[in-house]
Amino acid sequence: MHNPIAPASETTPLTVLRIDASARSNGSVSRQLADHLVDQLGRNVAPIHLVQRDLRDNPPLLDEAWVGANFTDPAQRTEAQRQALSLSDTWVSELMAADILVIATPIYNFSVPAALKAWIDQVTRARLTFQYTEHGPKGLLSGKKAYVLVASGGTPVGGEMDFATPWLRFILGFLGITDVTVIAADRGMARGNEARQAALEQINHSLVRHSPSPAHAIHDASLIH
Ligand SMILES: Cc1cc2nc3c(=O)[nH]c(=O)nc-3n(C[C@H](O)[C@H](O)[C@H](O)COP(=O)(O)O)c2cc1C
Repeated sequence: MHNPIAPASETTPLTVLRIDASARSNGSVSRQLADHLVDQLGRNVAPIHLVQRDLRDNPPLLDEAWVGANFTDPAQRTEAQRQALSLSDTWVSELMAADILVIATPIYNFSVPAALKAWIDQVTRARLTFQYTEHGPKGLLSGKKAYVLVASGGTPVGGEMDFATPWLRFILGFLGITDVTVIAADRGMARGNEARQAALEQINHSLVRHSPSPAHAIHDASLIH
């Protein structure tokens, strides 16, 4: 299988798609985690080509035109139907092109922000990112690595009140992205800065048993787990 952390040559950049779901731009813990991860990837793993989707301004929700267009054979779509899917098409292309997906998200009301659900809805497309087979649905986005960086106020990530990370793991797996590392700065209200600091260190450990040579780093698969 294609290993996204082992590009063909030392100079081949890894394409990193970063998705930010916090409504906050100032003081956002999840954004700080993503800043650090992307910085560390570029410094210690490989040169990166960064593509960012900031969901702060809220992606459009699926509507009747979108659903109708999506269910129409691509060859039969009208111009209006192609338009209805054009943003989704762009975001699907970005996701397909990514070697590494970084999702930075808060927990809102025990789940993901609606903006992140809307992004997932836009990229979950039959025939493009998953397909139905005689054995059931099959994800089409294999060979990618995903990091899910989570911030919460009181909800322990991985606990029974956390409906965000199990769902994200599930839907990413549904799309064929099964190599998912979750790093959490959770229970920030009680743990304060310690939660953020521990997550930053976890990012360091998951990326780096540091090697001065990116060529060595990127061929050591253990660096990314
Ligand atoms: C609308 C809203 C709902 C929230 N719901 C929860 C929740 O259910 N559980 C929780 O632990 N924290 C909750 N929080 C707190 C955030 O998860 C926490 O402040 C987190 O740090 C936000 O991420 P950010 O720092 O990247 O913006 C909520 C915050 C907001 C604004």
